[in-house]
Amino acid sequence: MNTPVTVVILAAGLGTRMKSRRAKVLHQAGGRTLVEHTVDTALSLATPDRVFVVVGHQAAQVKSTVEGRGVRFIHQTEQKGTGHALIAGRELLAPLGGLLVVYYGDCPLIPAAVLASLIDHQEHSKAAATLVSAELEDPTGYGRVIRDSGGQVLEVIEQKAGTPAQLAIREANVGIYCFQAGPFWQHIDELGTNNPAREYYLTDMVGILIRAGHTVDAFRAGNPMELLGINNRVELAAADRTFRERKVRELMLAGVTVEKPETVSVDDSVAIGIDTVIEPFAQILGKTKIGEACRIGACSIVRDSELADSVQVAPFTMINTSRVAAGAYIGPYARLRLENDIAPGAHIGNFVELKKTRLGAGAKAMHLAYLGDSVIGENVNVGAGTITCNYDGRAKHQTKIGNGVFVGSNATLVAPVEIGDGAYLAAGSVITDPVPVDALALGRARQVNKPDWARKRREKTRTKS
Ligand code: UD1
Ligand code: MG
Repeated sequence: MNTPVTVVILAAGLGTRMKSRRAKVLHQAGGRTLVEHTVDTALSLATPDRVFVVVGHQAAQVKSTVEGRGVRFIHQTEQKGTGHALIAGRELLAPLGGLLVVYYGDCPLIPAAVLASLIDHQEHSKAAATLVSAELEDPTGYGRVIRDSGGQVLEVIEQKAGTPAQLAIREANVGIYCFQAGPFWQHIDELGTNNPAREYYLTDMVGILIRAGHTVDAFRAGNPMELLGINNRVELAAADRTFRERKVRELMLAGVTVEKPETVSVDDSVAIGIDTVIEPFAQILGKTKIGEACRIGACSIVRDSELADSVQVAPFTMINTSRVAAGAYIGPYARLRLENDIAPGAHIGNFVELKKTRLGAGAKAMHLAYLGDSVIGENVNVGAGTITCNYDGRAKHQTKIGNGVFVGSNATLVAPVEIGDGAYLAAGSVITDPVPVDALALGRARQVNKPDWARKRREKTRTKS
């Protein structure tokens, strides 16, 4: 490709049919916002300094979503139509020349290959523009491509402005255009608002260019469903499903076993190694990386986490922003809430919650425990019901447990507190003071047995009644 390409993504509208307080392009499909998808597609065709996003409604949020990618922005403070969005960018865009690709920010599924062939077509054509069209079963709502008897494009007519004969045409404008920048900017001032919506229609540029003596090509797309914009939440769900299906299929072809793939959600940004098994209804989200030969149990949710090889996650487990080393076992019903670091071969069982905790190699917390702000050594055994009291109502405090410590069941560790290597905490203890290396700590009332007490009580109540 020789001609420089500029891409403009229109994303200033609210998207009324979403019935949302959030701008439409900020809704997510496949784990990314719609605007992120459309920007990422653009970046496969043009350098970031030639990718422009037209923002207006909730501009700050839309910008912050894609700013990191180095793209540029056009502010359209009042949304007076798709043509007006380009007028708003004239000063930035017109000097760039070359080819001007325009599409809408609500079309997250557009394949880069379709845009590449559109550009290729325009580059080899004498036409002033090429647009993508599709034959739709029901084109209601879309602009219609009007051609003459010889098949030459004459204009695009919007739904609201069409005559019954025009509206009977099934060839729809999908909303992807490639203009020669020269004639486009030369004629942009001819756009007007003489239409039922009182908007500047970008689609009017087709008729304008043709009346000025140019030709415009329309390029029929093979799979229109991928190209169409999302207008409501039903269409959003359909796009989300398509992304999920694509991702899971890609993973399976790359050596990951996915059971009942139609039930599993994996974000685009996730990487998974070969021979890992994903059980039904698992969700693997965000920037998660999973190694080889792992198992992600049914209904588990793993988000923004790193799991090394051979990690086993039993069903109904949540792992969030944590790192899990090779051979660890987690779940069922476990929760790694925030920034945990699990060493090789550690074992976390049911109803155990960890927060900002480092669990040493081979350590075990098998049942019913809360371990927060803790550093736990190697081969520690954390008994059932162990609680770290990390919060005193004002601040969080650390618990340190040395290597080889045995924490008896139902121990309560009041932080800040430190347990030396090899120590032994008696079951039911409330530990408030440091425990020396190899010591036994008992922090509970001594048991008292009163012989025959129960029998005597029973006899007393019997004589009363
Ligand atoms: C548009 C096309 C129609 C096409 C359809 C395909 C026009 C006039 N019509 O209609 O021919 O069949 O898309 O989906 O272009 N936007 C702005 N600023 C504005 C108005 C809109 O940035 O002032 C953005 C919106 O955020 C949206 C996109 O442009 O992402 C399309 O706008 P929308 O109102 O949905 O156009 P349609 O009526 O769908
Ligand atoms: Mg639309």
